Amino acid sequence: MIGLDDFRRVLGHFASGVTVVTARDAEGRPVGLTASAFTSVSLTPPLVLVCVDVKARCYPALYASDRFAVNILGAHQEALSQRFASNIDHKFEALTPHPGRLGLPMIPGALAHIECEKVGIHPGGDHTIFVGRVEAATAHEGEPLLHYRGRYDRLLSPLSTPRRSSPMSVPLSRPPNDDEIKRAALAAIDSGQYILGPECREFEAEFARYVGTRHAVLTNSGTAALWMAMRALGVKPGDEVLVPSHTAFPTAEAVLFAEAVPVFVDIDDTYTIDPKDAAAKVTARTVGVVPVHLYGHPVNVDAIRDLAAQRGLWMLEDCCQAHGARVRDQQVGTFGRAAAFSFYPSKNLTVMGDGGALVTDDDEIAARCRRLRDHGRLNKDVHAELGFNLRFNDVQAAIGRVLLRRLDAMNDRRRALAARYGAALAGLPIELPREQPEARHVYHLYVIRSARRGELAGFLKERGIQTGIHYPVPCHRQPVVERLAPPALPKTERAVEEILTLPLSAGHADAEIDQVAAAVREFFER
Ligand SMILES: Cc1ncc(COP(=O)(O)O)c(C=O)c1O
Repeated sequence: MIGLDDFRRVLGHFASGVTVVTARDAEGRPVGLTASAFTSVSLTPPLVLVCVDVKARCYPALYASDRFAVNILGAHQEALSQRFASNIDHKFEALTPHPGRLGLPMIPGALAHIECEKVGIHPGGDHTIFVGRVEAATAHEGEPLLHYRGRYDRLLSPLSTPRRSSPMSVPLSRPPNDDEIKRAALAAIDSGQYILGPECREFEAEFARYVGTRHAVLTNSGTAALWMAMRALGVKPGDEVLVPSHTAFPTAEAVLFAEAVPVFVDIDDTYTIDPKDAAAKVTARTVGVVPVHLYGHPVNVDAIRDLAAQRGLWMLEDCCQAHGARVRDQQVGTFGRAAAFSFYPSKNLTVMGDGGALVTDDDEIAARCRRLRDHGRLNKDVHAELGFNLRFNDVQAAIGRVLLRRLDAMNDRRRALAARYGAALAGLPIELPREQPEARHVYHLYVIRSARRGELAGFLKERGIQTGIHYPVPCHRQPVVERLAPPALPKTERAVEEILTLPLSAGHADAEIDQVAAAVREFFER
């Protein structure tokens, strides 16, 4: 953070000048808008308050950014101030912003540049006040722009009519998107090798090393990985496979595709498969179990592994929501015969589209899946069995490699935001996610529970906060399995009426989590 003297030097410009607030959007592009009603400062500590109009087109990007810069314009920059006060897209045209100390885009020729870490957001009516802790400030000679004929005139009244709902939205998930990702994709395009090429081979090697298995077989979705696994494990029509009902439907779908019978199991307090109920449902026809590390929390691996060992079942882990989750320092995906991962955009590790991987230590399973994903090919011209086109591509693999390097940091960020929710929501009449002592939860989804779920979701929606229900219809109540007449699962059926997913991803700002938590608190304390 800067010293007071430096900051005082910029204050002369600040108090009455026209200020343009700049930030970067999720893709690293500069965005900017003219501060609307006022700009204010505090000397100790150095804080800047800027008020902006939420109707500005780049407002969501400014809102999502953890940092912003304040540029004080000079009298010769009046045209620029008007350009930034408008809603046009090409504000930075012919204007190359230089990066400040925090990497924020600075308007060339401005009288002062102030870079801030965002420490507060106060929405009200058509305007939002952002509070920034000043991290760097520089001042230059010149006269500030005092008079402005644009929207400044209209900024006196709207603050007096605060609206209840905030017009911006906090999405459930914000996948990463930046220059490093784009460069990797472009380089893969330039390489001219698109399908199962060098980027795919590297990604497979790196992902297997990360998880700790001998093999990783890339494929084009988590569903495909599960489907291939069923085939490679030799599942036959009429076999029974234990699966939780409380999961994404593809877990059960893979079993159904193999013409086997999904035997639905209830959940425990972490929303994952209940080992006792699983044990009670084993029959002479049971061949395997598919535990799902749902929401990013590992299942009770010890109990499920014991059950599988005692009853001679294979175990296929569904890790589609749990990249990097661990049990006593061992990665999920290493406990069974094989495991399936999904790289769908909202997942902890994504490839910016659909994608998946099958991991295993078993050489035969890996070899079989490599054949299955490519039309059952033994080589270019010979097809040993029926497979399908489930291949992966190099452009997405290149992206996956970039994001795999960030996976642990992104999971740490998810955990930090979950802890932030935990602290902010403590004491409210809701159930927060639980974490078993031996488990490292990676919070693919942050799921709370309330008997007033519907009302709460509506209240948050009015405030522009997106929520989800994962999942409202459990697998055993899906019309497609009606013919199997699955028995009731009391815990699952109760949970699906009460669960609510709050926004959380590595791309969310602290301030967004605070905003959601404050809204949840307001709902219960009103
Ligand atoms: C638990 C679980 N299993 C399987 C899948 C299927 O993955 P994909 O969407 O990549 O096919 C998903 C995806 O949402 C999932 O969450």
